[in-house]
Amino acid sequence: MVRVIAIISGKGGVGKTTTAANLGVSLAYDYHKDVVAIDANTTSSGLGLHLGNYHFKKTLNDVLKNRINIPEAIFNHPSGLKFIPSSTSINSIDADPAGIKRVVSHLEPYVDIILLDCPPTLGNETISGVDSANEIIIVANPDWASLLEARRVIDYANFKKKKIIGLVLNKEENVSEEFRQRVIDSMGIPIIASIPEDNAVIDSVTKRVPVVHLHPHSKAAKAYRKLIEEVTGEQFPRKFGIMSRIFG
Ligand SMILES: Nc1ncnc2c1ncn2[C@@H]1O[C@H](COP(=O)(O)OP(=O)(O)OP(=O)(O)O)[C@@H](O)[C@H]1O
Ligand SMILES: [Mg+2]
Repeated sequence: MVRVIAIISGKGGVGKTTTAANLGVSLAYDYHKDVVAIDANTTSSGLGLHLGNYHFKKTLNDVLKNRINIPEAIFNHPSGLKFIPSSTSINSIDADPAGIKRVVSHLEPYVDIILLDCPPTLGNETISGVDSANEIIIVANPDWASLLEARRVIDYANFKKKKIIGLVLNKEENVSEEFRQRVIDSMGIPIIASIPEDNAVIDSVTKRVPVVHLHPHSKAAKAYRKLIEEVTGEQFPRKFGIMSRIFG
């Protein structure tokens, strides 16, 4: 069965898109998987920026508005990752996210993994993303405002009987074991990765190359590799990404 993984959070700006970009390029390049990453954030897109480009002539919004066919909106990243960007203009801000499910169903026969980078909160896009997925990754920061909102999306995923892979605790700094245990107890899901706050991530967003490949020896890249191992259940291949040889 194709893995359709929605990456969601309650609060915004916690690291969903960063996680989607790193998972996507690494699964494609390092693990040789056929992966499509979909920017399911049709009203404030951002995945393209992490992957090297911001303005796209054809987007998910055009697909959802039946202006183009799905394959026309698929772009190729140098890592081998395929991705469908969302619009950055206000032209098609009224695209109906309910159609995301149709896009996912169309892609399923051709790929191993579909990643859905969802917007924050439980709006129509996130609901559509969760409904289209068979697995969920929750992203939160180690503060209770972020975790409280994460709890709500966990409740929704549980209500929809989706398999939750676990929690990515991002931008974490010196979190105690006691705090981690309290998080696990109150969220009811395992912490599958702890990504440190790391300037290498900020640099990678500026340079538009995900940190696993741009700065493979950084703390954040090491943590992302552990996350990818958790998600795949396979050890990370020893070589690092080609982009580290170009940029690193
Ligand atoms: N581990 C990290 N260390 C330092 N900065 C980080 C880290 N993770 C993410 N960031 C920065 O935080 C910002 C927000 O990250 P990102 O866009 O991935 O969040 P998001 O959850 O997708 O946001 P939104 O809810 O708006 O879609 C980005 O500018 C990114 O550079
Ligand atoms: Mg985002």
